[in-house]
Amino acid sequence: MRTNVVIIGAGPAGLMLGRLLELAGVDAIILERKSPDYVLGRIRAGVLEQGTVDLMDRAEASTRLHAEGLIHHGIELSFDGDRHRLDFTKLIGRHVMIYGQTEVTRDLMNVRKAPTIYEAEDVELHNFDGHSPHVTYKKGGITHRIDCDYIAGCDGFHGVSRQSVPEKALTTFERIYPFGWLGILVDQPPVADELIYAHNARGFALCSQRSHTRSRYYVQVPADENVENWSDTRFWDELRLRLNPETAKALKTGPSIEKSIAPLRSFVAEPLRFGRLFLAGDAAHIVPPTGAKGLNLAMSDVATLADALIEATIEKSQAGVDAYSAKVLQRIWKAERFSWWMTSLLHTFPETGAFGRRIQRAEFDYLCSSHAAQQSLAENYTGLPS
Ligand code: FAD
Ligand code: DHB
Repeated sequence: MRTNVVIIGAGPAGLMLGRLLELAGVDAIILERKSPDYVLGRIRAGVLEQGTVDLMDRAEASTRLHAEGLIHHGIELSFDGDRHRLDFTKLIGRHVMIYGQTEVTRDLMNVRKAPTIYEAEDVELHNFDGHSPHVTYKKGGITHRIDCDYIAGCDGFHGVSRQSVPEKALTTFERIYPFGWLGILVDQPPVADELIYAHNARGFALCSQRSHTRSRYYVQVPADENVENWSDTRFWDELRLRLNPETAKALKTGPSIEKSIAPLRSFVAEPLRFGRLFLAGDAAHIVPPTGAKGLNLAMSDVATLADALIEATIEKSQAGVDAYSAKVLQRIWKAERFSWWMTSLLHTFPETGAFGRRIQRAEFDYLCSSHAAQQSLAENYTGLPS
């Protein structure tokens, strides 16, 4: 087989890249390790920046998103029960959209016409530092080979693409946080119209949502916590303790339809191009989920990568591929900074003690009183320009 681009991974980054290339007439084959149902079963992000919505429009995959997505004009911050609403529309004239990553993935799967090969095992990348790269994989016990011009590594943090790069060619930057997020999905109306990010001495909590009838809640737990230790009742009791009493009273609970723990990590690999291999999305970087940047950042990477690969394939110009790594890293580091800052403000860090909590309180009070600080948060949360 031969194609222009082999894309490794059919998460949101791989599927979006595949769709943008397809629409521009650039051939691409996607190789995905898991089954479509497995990919759709992963409950992850829920907040889309306008740039991501615009990209779904460009991908001609946004009909359901515009019909079912919820426009949110702001968020609530809460610190030890004291509440403050940030109105993004008033502050900077922008908003975000609530629409689950699962639905983004499903919509991109549905519009795709070119092949995605699911359950592709033992994917290996070859000769990407030369002129004629190829990728091999196993399916049904048979080894297949695809020759290509470029390889896009969109296979997430644990994927094979970044691991295929010689260690000395890669610099990585990492911070692992001593906690994770325990998340629960429930078919109950959300506790509030907008998201609530809550700091509490017991730890962070987030009230999020997927629709008017489906809610997503998170509580900060130690990094080594086991999900089996958390009955639904324990989760709801803990969540109530971390919220403002009025909010806690309004909470509508029910049996969880999904429950999982996500570790928190900041990570960046540099550079993001190795000859004819490019890394994008979680394969290139991880942000802690506070601030909802992970999915949005993956989407902005592949928007830039798609333009570069289209330019290289159709116009035979290398300018875009040459500029890719430096261009996306600028935006990646800004999102890393914001996600690290939101995480630092809202979580409890046992090692920083009473001084650390006073600083967090001062930061919250400053935010509540400073228009400039609120604008800065709003600008970052709704998405910086690419
Ligand atoms: P992924 O979604 O990870 O997709 C990569 C794909 O590559 C997967 O389908 C995988 O199966 C496939 N793959 C991996 N290895 C191979 C291989 N060797 N061969 C072939 N295919 C392979 N972000 C937020 O903004 N808010 C959240 O609440 C949030 N929660 C999260 C919870 C968890 C548990 C995780 C892991 C991430 C979460 N994120 C969240 C981050 C967000 O979901 C990611 O940033 C987003 O999924 C990135 O998309 P991606 O396509 O780059 O990677
Ligand atoms: C969700 C996740 C986030 O990380 C966030 O900041 C907001 C919402 C969510 O899963 O709904």
